[in-house]
Amino acid sequence: MKYDFDEIVNRRGTYSVKWDGGEFLKKHGMTERYDEETIPLFTADMDLPVPQPVVDALHRTVDHRIYGYSVVPDEYYEAIQGWFKRRHDWDIRREEIVYCPGTVHAIFAAVRTFTEPGDGVIIQRPVYPPFTMAIEKNGRTVVNNALKQGEDGRYEIDFDDFEAKAKEPSTTMFILCNPHNPTGRIFRPEELKRLADICRANGVLIVADEIHGDLIRRNETFVPIAKVAEAGTPIVTCTAVNKTFNLAGLHCTNLVISDPELREKFTQALGHAPATPFAYSALIAAYNEGEEWLDQLKEYLDGTFEFALAFLRERMPKVKAVMPEGTYVLWMDFSGYGLSAEEVRDRVYHRANVLLQEGKQFGEEGAGFLRMCIPSPRPLIKEALERIAREFEDIR
Ligand SMILES: Cc1ncc(COP(=O)(O)O)c(C=O)c1O
Repeated sequence: MKYDFDEIVNRRGTYSVKWDGGEFLKKHGMTERYDEETIPLFTADMDLPVPQPVVDALHRTVDHRIYGYSVVPDEYYEAIQGWFKRRHDWDIRREEIVYCPGTVHAIFAAVRTFTEPGDGVIIQRPVYPPFTMAIEKNGRTVVNNALKQGEDGRYEIDFDDFEAKAKEPSTTMFILCNPHNPTGRIFRPEELKRLADICRANGVLIVADEIHGDLIRRNETFVPIAKVAEAGTPIVTCTAVNKTFNLAGLHCTNLVISDPELREKFTQALGHAPATPFAYSALIAAYNEGEEWLDQLKEYLDGTFEFALAFLRERMPKVKAVMPEGTYVLWMDFSGYGLSAEEVRDRVYHRANVLLQEGKQFGEEGAGFLRMCIPSPRPLIKEALERIAREFEDIR
């Protein structure tokens, strides 16, 4: 089946945080303007319909009319195993899979379960803000191994700094984001192996958030860290049908934890948190029948990135941005305009009426940047970029 991702589906009135969250966003000081003309591109979900087999599976579940307690079906595990084998050549044993109602939930729980108050947790800023929240709200300490941006805009790992920080006796965990949100880097197997070796040598547990692993450019490959790390390296990997198939509202994250002790400790800490029948049926359909959709989606996202980068080069050459290897976020450096963060925000959020996410929320390394999530119909992205460009035309 051919999907039409240019179709604009009205999401207002569906409890969408992007499209119905105006009052919430204003209350939390994110913007002063939110109205029916606002284009919200700040949060990482897609304004694109999910694969038809998923819709059909959910219909079958809804049409049954009874939504009682559910039991995890064998097909659920088989679908996850099949997906990771086919797409990432990764053999996962059934008993290694642990369901969790969300990735952020899992990261918070992992920090609480596997570290002690005051412990240091390494993250690589600029990085997805809930990593910092999970550490700080649990009374642990952020240990920042900042990524270094080269002249070409590409971000690299500072391994000497990473190793020095991993060696600190107080450092007990590393939260890896790969593909990396917001920089778009996909770390290569050699880089992952080096990180894993350092962690293993220093008794640092790796929590690998790999939920963008399916959302990569056509010419790129993604390798899970658990595949390249030496056997016995302690790793908790987060995977999520949520992100790949735009099912975030169904809360379906699956962790892969090979070490039986770690797994036992984590499941104990999580308590009783089963999934809903909607999550089961959606995941099974997505992983078993969603590949055709994903391949079309990837092509569409590549095209939108190509369009957006060409637009910036032509209409906003002061904005620096590169093609991300993975993720669907565009990380744009607005510092070339020489404006304050407040002025940039005012022009984009209030005058252009486009809501993005401010770079400084990803750590001070993100100051001067804005992040745009681009998995929306391309006409909407075009309109958002046009509006933003108009507000900066006075600066040449
Ligand atoms: C790197 C990363 N981790 C986690 C999440 C959120 O995942 P979940 O909805 O499963 O909590 C996101 C969403 O944008 C993300 O980009």
